[in-house]
Amino acid sequence: MTQSEYIPIRSKLPQVGTTIFTIMSALANECGAINLSQGFPDFESPPELIDLVATYMRKGFNQYAPMAGVPALREQIAAKIERLYGLPVLPDTEITITAGGTQAIYTAITALVQEGDEVLVLEPCYDCYVPAIRLCGGIPVHIPLQLPQYSVPWDLVKKMLSSRTRMIILNSPHNPTGAVLTPADMHELQHLVSGTDILILSDEVYEHIIFDGNTHESVLKYPDLWQRSIAVFSFGKTFHNTGWKVGYAVAPAFLTAEMRKAHQFIVFSVNTPVQYALAEYLKNPDNYLALPAFYEQKRNYFLALLQGSRFTFSPAAGSYFQLLHYDAISDERDTDFAIRLTKEAGVAAIPVSVFYNQPEQVNSRVLRFCFAKQNATLEQAAEKLLKI
Ligand SMILES: Cc1ncc(COP(=O)(O)O)c(C=O)c1O
Repeated sequence: MTQSEYIPIRSKLPQVGTTIFTIMSALANECGAINLSQGFPDFESPPELIDLVATYMRKGFNQYAPMAGVPALREQIAAKIERLYGLPVLPDTEITITAGGTQAIYTAITALVQEGDEVLVLEPCYDCYVPAIRLCGGIPVHIPLQLPQYSVPWDLVKKMLSSRTRMIILNSPHNPTGAVLTPADMHELQHLVSGTDILILSDEVYEHIIFDGNTHESVLKYPDLWQRSIAVFSFGKTFHNTGWKVGYAVAPAFLTAEMRKAHQFIVFSVNTPVQYALAEYLKNPDNYLALPAFYEQKRNYFLALLQGSRFTFSPAAGSYFQLLHYDAISDERDTDFAIRLTKEAGVAAIPVSVFYNQPEQVNSRVLRFCFAKQNATLEQAAEKLLKI
């Protein structure tokens, strides 16, 4: 026994263990299963972008970047935001480059949520929100999205607001459900927070992965929301390089100033050559404007392959996740079914209940499949799923 095993630690996150993503990926490896569980592409980032990173490394851009991010990248991001959402943001004071969306989210919460503050979280939700709230002494208030479409129950949200509500966290396109917020949702939200001190943390990492002619409803499109929002983005999702961990936070200057106080001591600055490469690559808008069509084709291909299977589904409206319902196959709990699917059928997916605060109380029979995969991977997975 080492000395540290005798030192009592009171965990700040007693409920947190190994994430289901790690568990399912390990199980997928062990069983040689097709891994549609973790949300990352199994195809390459564009070679042109990789070459740009190598070029900037060779040119000697290898030391610390400025704390808020490389100015050229922040300028390109501002141009992109103005083009897409019609908002003129100030690169110097309103954009911060972060180590992925995760660090932007953690930094926003840690800088702006005080002990005892309530933060509204719509569930199922991405798994990094609640631990970040808890670590800074905030109180997560869980509100279930409304089935079958996983829409926001605005009446319930209104009921759950209190004098202690500091922040509402939104995510569109949504992980794990693929649902997207509509203009009507944004108007409801605007109405709800008007005249309050509530901040919005808007996780928009899948902004370019939206289908069927819908447009992404960013908080940056709504001036009344923008004044109180931190919007979070991720290049990893947009340019197929989740391992590079580069993203950004966009917020009005008074919020950005507070966030940067924390940012400089959490990470200080982010990968320099990658930032220069991204600045160059963003000059061509086609590099991100092509993304909805690219992923819509993948979604359609995956769903076409599943025709005739016993799984049922509504096509995902956005993100690179597709929910498949297995009510017609089994009445097992989703965690049990996901493990059996990996072991016996050879396909790994994520049970949706794990995205809830109390998974054991969720009795929907739904799994999340990631379709950011080569067509050959999707074909192999579908072939196995059709046999069930
Ligand atoms: C909804 C959502 N937000 C944030 C992130 C984190 O993004 P990043 O990998 O850039 O940290 C993810 C990644 O899966 C996500 O799905």
